[in-house]
Amino acid sequence: MTHKPNTGTGFGFFLTRALKTPAASAILLAVLAGTGPANAHDKATGVVKQRMDAMKMLAGSMKAIAGQVKSPSPDPDAISVAARALRDHAGDAMLVGFPEGSLQDPTEARPKIWKEWERFTELADRLALQGQGLILAAANPPSGAAPDPSTPHKLESYATLPVDELFLLTAKTCSACHQDYRIKN
Ligand code: HEC
Repeated sequence: MTHKPNTGTGFGFFLTRALKTPAASAILLAVLAGTGPANAHDKATGVVKQRMDAMKMLAGSMKAIAGQVKSPSPDPDAISVAARALRDHAGDAMLVGFPEGSLQDPTEARPKIWKEWERFTELADRLALQGQGLILAAANPPSGAAPDPSTPHKLESYATLPVDELFLLTAKTCSACHQDYRIKN
Protein backbone atom coordinates (compact mmCIF):
# COMPACT_ATOMS: atom_id res chain seq x y z
CA MET A 1 0.00 0.00 0.00
CA THR A 2 1.56 3.25 -1.09
CA HIS A 3 -0.60 5.46 1.07
CA LYS A 4 0.92 8.28 3.00
CA PRO A 5 -0.82 8.35 6.36
CA ASN A 6 -1.08 12.14 6.30
CA THR A 7 -3.14 12.42 3.14
CA GLY A 8 -6.85 11.85 3.30
CA THR A 9 -6.58 10.01 6.63
CA GLY A 10 -6.59 6.65 4.92
CA PHE A 11 -9.87 7.28 3.20
CA GLY A 12 -8.46 6.12 -0.11
CA PHE A 13 -7.52 2.88 1.53
CA PHE A 14 -11.00 2.59 2.95
CA LEU A 15 -12.49 3.22 -0.45
CA THR A 16 -10.24 0.70 -2.12
CA ARG A 17 -11.37 -1.92 0.30
CA ALA A 18 -14.89 -0.68 -0.04
CA LEU A 19 -14.82 -1.37 -3.72
CA LYS A 20 -13.82 -4.95 -3.14
CA THR A 21 -16.18 -6.24 -0.48
CA PRO A 22 -19.95 -6.12 -0.95
CA ALA A 23 -20.79 -5.21 2.65
CA ALA A 24 -18.30 -2.36 2.80
CA SER A 25 -19.31 -1.32 -0.66
CA ALA A 26 -22.82 -0.77 0.64
CA ILE A 27 -21.33 1.47 3.34
CA LEU A 28 -19.41 3.45 0.77
CA LEU A 29 -22.50 4.00 -1.30
CA ALA A 30 -24.53 5.04 1.72
CA VAL A 31 -21.81 7.57 2.59
CA LEU A 32 -21.70 8.93 -0.92
CA ALA A 33 -25.45 9.09 -1.23
CA GLY A 34 -25.88 10.76 2.14
CA THR A 35 -28.75 8.41 2.79
CA GLY A 36 -29.24 8.78 6.50
CA PRO A 37 -32.31 7.34 8.18
CA ALA A 38 -34.01 10.72 8.67
CA ASN A 39 -34.31 13.11 5.81
CA ALA A 40 -34.43 16.52 7.42
CA HIS A 41 -33.40 17.93 4.09
CA ASP A 42 -36.88 17.77 2.67
CA LYS A 43 -37.47 21.15 4.26
CA ALA A 44 -34.51 22.86 2.63
CA THR A 45 -35.38 25.76 0.33
CA GLY A 46 -33.67 28.13 -2.10
CA VAL A 47 -29.96 27.88 -2.74
CA VAL A 48 -29.46 25.36 0.08
CA LYS A 49 -31.97 23.00 -1.49
CA GLN A 50 -30.44 23.50 -4.92
CA ARG A 51 -26.95 22.65 -3.78
CA MET A 52 -28.18 19.65 -1.78
CA ASP A 53 -29.98 18.38 -4.87
CA ALA A 54 -26.85 18.95 -6.96
CA MET A 55 -24.75 17.07 -4.38
CA LYS A 56 -27.20 14.15 -4.45
CA MET A 57 -26.89 14.09 -8.19
CA LEU A 58 -23.10 13.89 -7.80
CA ALA A 59 -23.58 10.95 -5.45
CA GLY A 60 -25.70 9.27 -8.13
CA SER A 61 -22.94 9.76 -10.69
CA MET A 62 -20.34 8.37 -8.30
CA LYS A 63 -22.54 5.33 -7.69
CA ALA A 64 -22.86 4.78 -11.41
CA ILE A 65 -19.09 4.93 -11.89
CA ALA A 66 -18.47 2.69 -8.86
CA GLY A 67 -20.79 0.11 -10.39
CA GLN A 68 -18.81 0.21 -13.62
CA VAL A 69 -15.30 0.08 -12.19
CA LYS A 70 -16.25 -2.89 -9.99
CA SER A 71 -17.67 -4.80 -12.90
CA PRO A 72 -15.50 -7.32 -14.80
CA SER A 73 -16.04 -5.38 -18.03
CA PRO A 74 -16.63 -1.69 -17.36
CA ASP A 75 -18.58 0.23 -20.00
CA PRO A 76 -16.54 3.33 -21.01
CA ASP A 77 -19.63 5.09 -22.35
CA ALA A 78 -21.50 4.72 -19.09
CA ILE A 79 -18.44 6.03 -17.22
CA SER A 80 -18.17 9.01 -19.58
CA VAL A 81 -21.81 9.96 -19.19
CA ALA A 82 -21.54 9.96 -15.39
CA ALA A 83 -18.15 11.71 -15.51
CA ARG A 84 -19.62 14.49 -17.64
CA ALA A 85 -22.27 15.06 -14.99
CA LEU A 86 -19.53 15.32 -12.33
CA ARG A 87 -17.55 17.77 -14.42
CA ASP A 88 -20.55 19.93 -15.25
CA HIS A 89 -21.71 20.21 -11.64
CA ALA A 90 -18.30 20.87 -10.11
CA GLY A 91 -16.10 23.96 -10.45
CA ASP A 92 -17.99 27.22 -10.92
CA ALA A 93 -21.33 25.41 -11.17
CA MET A 94 -20.76 24.13 -7.62
CA LEU A 95 -19.40 27.43 -6.30
CA VAL A 96 -22.49 29.44 -7.30
CA GLY A 97 -24.41 27.18 -4.93
CA PHE A 98 -22.48 28.66 -2.01
CA PRO A 99 -23.13 32.42 -1.92
CA GLU A 100 -21.42 34.01 1.07
CA GLY A 101 -23.14 33.31 4.38
CA SER A 102 -25.81 30.98 2.97
CA LEU A 103 -26.26 28.96 6.15
CA GLN A 104 -30.04 28.68 6.30
CA ASP A 105 -31.44 25.72 8.20
CA PRO A 106 -31.10 22.73 7.62
CA THR A 107 -27.74 23.33 5.97
CA GLU A 108 -24.73 21.24 6.90
CA ALA A 109 -22.31 23.74 5.39
CA ARG A 110 -19.66 25.16 7.73
CA PRO A 111 -19.16 28.92 8.00
CA LYS A 112 -15.44 28.53 7.38
CA ILE A 113 -16.19 27.86 3.69
CA TRP A 114 -16.08 31.62 3.17
CA LYS A 115 -12.99 32.13 5.32
CA GLU A 116 -11.18 29.50 3.26
CA TRP A 117 -12.85 30.24 -0.05
CA GLU A 118 -9.64 29.71 -1.98
CA ARG A 119 -9.25 26.11 -0.79
CA PHE A 120 -12.97 25.45 -1.21
CA THR A 121 -12.65 26.71 -4.79
CA GLU A 122 -9.60 24.53 -5.35
CA LEU A 123 -11.51 21.40 -4.30
CA ALA A 124 -14.53 22.27 -6.45
CA ASP A 125 -12.20 22.89 -9.42
CA ARG A 126 -10.28 19.68 -8.75
CA LEU A 127 -13.53 17.74 -8.95
CA ALA A 128 -14.27 19.33 -12.34
CA LEU A 129 -10.82 18.36 -13.57
CA GLN A 130 -11.24 14.80 -12.29
CA GLY A 131 -14.62 14.61 -14.04
CA GLN A 132 -12.93 15.62 -17.27
CA GLY A 133 -10.11 13.17 -16.49
CA LEU A 134 -12.60 10.33 -16.01
CA ILE A 135 -13.99 11.00 -19.48
CA LEU A 136 -10.47 10.63 -20.90
CA ALA A 137 -9.66 7.61 -18.71
CA ALA A 138 -13.03 5.90 -19.18
CA ALA A 139 -11.59 3.12 -21.33
CA ASN A 140 -8.42 2.58 -19.24
CA PRO A 141 -8.60 -0.88 -17.65
CA PRO A 142 -8.99 -0.95 -13.84
CA SER A 143 -5.90 -1.96 -11.85
CA GLY A 144 -7.47 -3.01 -8.55
CA ALA A 145 -4.71 -0.99 -6.86
CA ALA A 146 -4.85 2.01 -4.58
CA PRO A 147 -4.12 5.30 -6.32
CA ASP A 148 -0.84 7.08 -5.65
CA PRO A 149 -1.90 9.98 -3.40
CA SER A 150 0.90 12.12 -4.83
CA THR A 151 -0.57 11.97 -8.35
CA PRO A 152 -0.35 15.55 -9.66
CA HIS A 153 -3.74 17.21 -10.03
CA LYS A 154 -3.37 17.67 -13.77
CA LEU A 155 -5.45 16.46 -16.64
CA GLU A 156 -2.52 14.73 -18.30
CA SER A 157 -1.82 12.68 -15.15
CA TYR A 158 -5.46 11.78 -14.75
CA ALA A 159 -5.91 10.76 -18.38
CA THR A 160 -3.41 7.89 -18.14
CA LEU A 161 -4.57 6.44 -14.79
CA PRO A 162 -6.43 3.14 -14.50
CA VAL A 163 -10.07 4.22 -14.32
CA ASP A 164 -10.67 2.74 -10.85
CA GLU A 165 -7.69 4.63 -9.42
CA LEU A 166 -8.97 7.93 -10.78
CA PHE A 167 -12.41 7.10 -9.42
CA LEU A 168 -10.89 6.63 -5.94
CA LEU A 169 -8.98 9.91 -6.19
CA THR A 170 -12.23 11.60 -7.17
CA ALA A 171 -14.04 10.11 -4.17
CA LYS A 172 -11.24 11.52 -2.04
CA THR A 173 -11.98 15.00 -3.34
CA CYS A 174 -15.60 14.61 -2.21
CA SER A 175 -14.54 13.42 1.21
CA ALA A 176 -11.76 16.01 1.63
CA CYS A 177 -14.25 18.79 1.10
CA HIS A 178 -16.88 17.19 3.32
CA GLN A 179 -14.38 16.59 6.08
CA ASP A 180 -13.55 20.28 6.31
CA TYR A 181 -16.66 22.05 5.12
CA ARG A 182 -19.65 19.85 5.89
CA ILE A 183 -20.89 19.21 9.41
CA LYS A 184 -21.82 15.56 8.90
CA ASN A 185 -19.09 13.54 7.33
C1 HEC B 1 -15.83 21.94 -2.71
C2 HEC B 1 -16.46 21.16 -1.68
C3 HEC B 1 -17.27 19.94 -2.00
C4 HEC B 1 -17.00 18.97 -2.92
C5 HEC B 1 -15.81 18.87 -3.87
C6 HEC B 1 -18.07 18.02 -2.82
N1 HEC B 1 -18.97 18.39 -1.87
FE1 HEC B 1 -20.65 17.39 -1.34
N2 HEC B 1 -21.09 18.83 0.02
C7 HEC B 1 -20.31 19.93 0.30
C8 HEC B 1 -20.95 20.75 1.33
C9 HEC B 1 -20.40 22.04 1.92
C10 HEC B 1 -22.15 20.09 1.65
C11 HEC B 1 -23.23 20.56 2.65
C12 HEC B 1 -24.21 21.45 1.88
C13 HEC B 1 -25.34 21.96 2.76
O1 HEC B 1 -25.83 21.18 3.61
O2 HEC B 1 -25.75 23.11 2.56
C14 HEC B 1 -22.20 18.88 0.83
C15 HEC B 1 -23.24 17.95 0.86
C16 HEC B 1 -23.25 16.77 0.15
C17 HEC B 1 -24.29 15.78 0.23
C18 HEC B 1 -25.55 15.84 1.12
C19 HEC B 1 -26.68 16.51 0.34
C20 HEC B 1 -27.91 16.68 1.21
O3 HEC B 1 -29.01 16.34 0.77
O4 HEC B 1 -27.78 17.17 2.35
C21 HEC B 1 -23.94 14.75 -0.61
C22 HEC B 1 -24.73 13.49 -0.87
C23 HEC B 1 -22.70 15.12 -1.24
N3 HEC B 1 -22.30 16.35 -0.76
C24 HEC B 1 -22.04 14.35 -2.18
C25 HEC B 1 -20.85 14.73 -2.81
C26 HEC B 1 -20.13 13.89 -3.74
C27 HEC B 1 -20.53 12.49 -4.15
C28 HEC B 1 -19.04 14.61 -4.13
C29 HEC B 1 -17.94 14.20 -5.08
C30 HEC B 1 -18.30 13.68 -6.36
C31 HEC B 1 -19.09 15.88 -3.44
N4 HEC B 1 -20.20 15.92 -2.65
C32 HEC B 1 -18.14 16.88 -3.59
C33 HEC B 1 -19.11 20.26 -0.28
C34 HEC B 1 -18.51 19.55 -1.32
